Amino acid sequence: MNKKRISEEMEKILNKQVTNEAWNAEIYLAYGAWADDQGMTGLSNYLFRHSKEERDHMMKFMQHIMQRGGKVKIDQIPKPLENPKNLKECLENLFEAEVENSEAIYKIINLALEEKDWATWNFLQWFVKEQIEEENLVEELLDRYNLISGGGEINGSDLYQFDKDLSKEEDEADIARDSSIEKQ
Ligand code: FEO
Repeated sequence: MNKKRISEEMEKILNKQVTNEAWNAEIYLAYGAWADDQGMTGLSNYLFRHSKEERDHMMKFMQHIMQRGGKVKIDQIPKPLENPKNLKECLENLFEAEVENSEAIYKIINLALEEKDWATWNFLQWFVKEQIEEENLVEELLDRYNLISGGGEINGSDLYQFDKDLSKEEDEADIARDSSIEKQ
């Protein structure tokens, strides 16, 4: 008896997303280490916390594949992005990575629609909402950065304050973390 309720193509693209989420976790991890090395402990902790959220996303995709009778195939995770040159580049790269990830999820939604795979379509709605939140979180940091810097680089007391403010932003990170697989 075949208990698999997802198509071969859907299984493949969902497994690809498992790797995408793992890759995003690696990026936040690498950038968190970079931020710590630059003395930005507020940013570093923020990014480390976020890395865990990405890993939770990975687990959610794995869980969905398994629940639908599919097979999880853990693949090699690509190398994270190179270290950024500065804080501006760090935030811009994170924003781009989030937008790229949203687009990958929209592709899966399109396939779910085409295949009338409503279970997967429904599963992905959580991620649509989550990605709006994730893009906004980084976009807000970028906006704040640009406001302080006027588009250039920041340093000295401005950088110190930016980093210090980030250390107080647990609530925003908690929103996504509360929705993670561990709390369900
Ligand atoms: Fe798992 Fe930041 O998206």
